Amino acid sequence: MDTLARLGFDSVRGTLINGFSVLALYGVWRAIYRVCLVPWLSPLRNIPGPEKTSFFWGNMQQIFKADPGELHGQWVKQYGHTLAYTGILGRRRLMTLDPKALSYVLNHSTQWQKPEEVRNSLAELLGKGVLFEEGEVHKRQRRIMNPSFAISHLRELTSIFHEKSQQLRNIWQKKLTEEGGAITTDVVSWLGQATLDIIGLAGFDYEFNALNAEGQNNELNLAFKTVTRQGQRFSMFQIAQAFFPLLKLIPTKQSRSIANATAVMDRLGRQLINKKKQAILAEAAARGKSEAGVGKNLVTTRDLLSRLMVANMANDLPESQKLSDDDVLAQIPTFLLAGHETTATATTWCLYALSRGQEIQRKLREELLRLDTDNPSMDEINSLPYLDAVIKETMRLHSAVPSTVRVATQDDVIPLSKPFTDKKGHLRHEIVVKKGDRMFIPIICANQNVDVWGEDALEFKPERWLNLTDKVNDIPGVVPGILSFIAGPRSCIGYRFALVESKCLIFALVRAFEFELAVDPSQIIKKSTIVTRPIIVTEMEKGPQLPLKITPYRGA
Ligand code: HEM
Repeated sequence: MDTLARLGFDSVRGTLINGFSVLALYGVWRAIYRVCLVPWLSPLRNIPGPEKTSFFWGNMQQIFKADPGELHGQWVKQYGHTLAYTGILGRRRLMTLDPKALSYVLNHSTQWQKPEEVRNSLAELLGKGVLFEEGEVHKRQRRIMNPSFAISHLRELTSIFHEKSQQLRNIWQKKLTEEGGAITTDVVSWLGQATLDIIGLAGFDYEFNALNAEGQNNELNLAFKTVTRQGQRFSMFQIAQAFFPLLKLIPTKQSRSIANATAVMDRLGRQLINKKKQAILAEAAARGKSEAGVGKNLVTTRDLLSRLMVANMANDLPESQKLSDDDVLAQIPTFLLAGHETTATATTWCLYALSRGQEIQRKLREELLRLDTDNPSMDEINSLPYLDAVIKETMRLHSAVPSTVRVATQDDVIPLSKPFTDKKGHLRHEIVVKKGDRMFIPIICANQNVDVWGEDALEFKPERWLNLTDKVNDIPGVVPGILSFIAGPRSCIGYRFALVESKCLIFALVRAFEFELAVDPSQIIKKSTIVTRPIIVTEMEKGPQLPLKITPYRGA
């Protein structure tokens, strides 16, 4: 009996050892394949570019240390408009400023998707919303949401943008009175509070009340802040985790706080959805309809969530146009993040540029004061040419999102408008890529391309927007001339929302105040995590900030 048992034990142990050996061998093979064969097999190895500076990190550490887009800009000068550098573990990354190539990649979103490691990080922070999804699921979600961002709908939201912009203006006015006529304050945090309130109301009919004199945070505000703060602390360990998901099994303080905060967001998100459902049913009942009678035209309020809930509840919509509770839930943190820090950052950079360009600030104020209302309609605010130029120039020069990345889901050939010379000296009229090759989308470098904007491309000159040349069509963005919102089926769904919102904020603030930098400009650098924000070099530990001196505008 003992012998039999022993034989059985030996055979189980043998099977286990064999199994582990096979797994270990497979792991070693994958590592060799990834580190040695993939880069060697990729056609990108023949594209000119910088040498890697680290076996593991490639050129990534250098990129992280520099200002956003700074190194890529230098490489373009050195190697030309199409180049390749090295990412983590030897994987080559393609980068090009060629308009035809950029347009091809951005418009072929089935062949060119977000890489797995980026999607995993997004899912962890935000759930599986429209920023995360790919393929048919993305197309369906996007089709359902597009109408909520139409111009007609934005017109209705403009009053929310004004209401919150004026609330911020009033808070600063009160502080000015209390503090003797001038304040020095960090506008990054104030604008973050204003845009959080705006997306809360416009997106979900939810009052965050982030802009309040007492500085109190409600529960959702706190949870959301935790997630965004953690998402913005990119460490090399986090990057390594994105590539090697097994590392995520090591619990860290950060992973625990993200898990707690996402649990709170999930619970409160479900409460918001249930409240909306009740409101829609009450509205249907008021119109003499039962639950079965809820139809696609029944929108109770102007916020985005109401529209998503109709796609969730309407009985006259085909299944292909419906969203489940979980689909709707995932959009809440997605829109909070995508629609809040981005616009706050863009408006911060606008105040920075106006503080450095006093003459531009004066000229802008003059135009804004010509309107004799505090609450212009969306069409009135969009018809102010200098305001439009200032906002677009800000988004060009200080793009809130500096870059993004795509991966080829199949072998592909990217067309070019101008050829490049490969490492072997051959002129190439297209770029050949293999499945798995990455493409870096250089938003900030494209926006600052001297071939499009001229030798003064790095200067803040709103006037350039008043006299555009055809050259701007060389940047294939949804907003011609800038790639800040990218292009194609994955372009920013909220770009018109962001433009009008920033205009309303600047409209209220520049009419009421004069702005000056409170520190020397050489002290301010750009740091990029998800978005690019200002940091004071001597106060890095404080995180993003832009201290401005604010005084009331007292007229000429
Ligand atoms: C200045 C402000 C903004 C900038 C610079 C910006 C930029 C971008 C960029 C570059 C992307 C593409 C990301 C990628 O695919 O890698 C994007 C996507 C997106 N943005 Fe924005 N955004 C801004 C404001 C907003 C606002 C206000 C909203 C919503 C209210 C919003 C919602 C979204 C969503 C949902 C996506 C994902 C779209 C998709 O994948 O189909 N964004 N944005």
